[in-house]
Amino acid sequence: MNTITDHPALLSARLKHETAGLHQEMHDLMAQLQPFSSRARYASFVAAQYHFQRDVEHLFDDPALRAAVPDLQVRGREAAALADLADLDIDPGQAALATTAVRMPEALGWLYVSEGSTLGAAFLLKEVKDRLGLHEQFGARHLAAYPEGRALVWRRFVGLLDQPGLSPVAQQAVLDGAKAAFARFGELLRQQFAAA
Ligand code: HEM
Repeated sequence: MNTITDHPALLSARLKHETAGLHQEMHDLMAQLQPFSSRARYASFVAAQYHFQRDVEHLFDDPALRAAVPDLQVRGREAAALADLADLDIDPGQAALATTAVRMPEALGWLYVSEGSTLGAAFLLKEVKDRLGLHEQFGARHLAAYPEGRALVWRRFVGLLDQPGLSPVAQQAVLDGAKAAFARFGELLRQQFAAA
């Protein structure tokens, strides 16, 4: 009996594995854009984060996403990013929502990218503190850990992703949503830094 191929990969593992290249591209783009080299460049980064969080939180209105992720009220950093921009005295400008046509199960892929980025945010927060003197109560609120802690809120999300019941077609839609979300964040970063 082949116990390995009898068990399909968990959705969380597929997401991590199949978007690893896109995650690396984000690292490369960040290295190129140097968002922590000045407060002005950091403000462009926060504006990109704000517009991305608007895209993601727009999905919270979908009852199907609320049913799949019952703790949505503790997630999302749109308000924090907007408060950071106010701290920095920056107007985020306008950006059309990218998610008006996104529904479940793609929506879960978008949320995966947003929630996953809270893990990397621990490292970004340290850099922002050390290099720019900002912190969780001023300018870097959106990089702060959730009150319950990053790891716990992430593990709970992974638990929801890996609940049995999503068909292979639905799982593929989650993957497609995650890929679209990574592409959107890259697009927003490029736009914000081009306008800076
Ligand atoms: C230079 C910037 C970044 C750094 C240093 C970074 C770093 C990290 C680290 C250390 C983890 C945790 C890996 C683990 O515990 O296994 C992580 C996970 C993740 N990051 Fe990033 N990250 C960055 C940018 C981003 C961006 C911009 C996004 C999305 C817009 C993103 C999305 C994710 C996702 C989805 C995960 C979860 C991976 C998984 O376990 O499934 N990251 N990142």
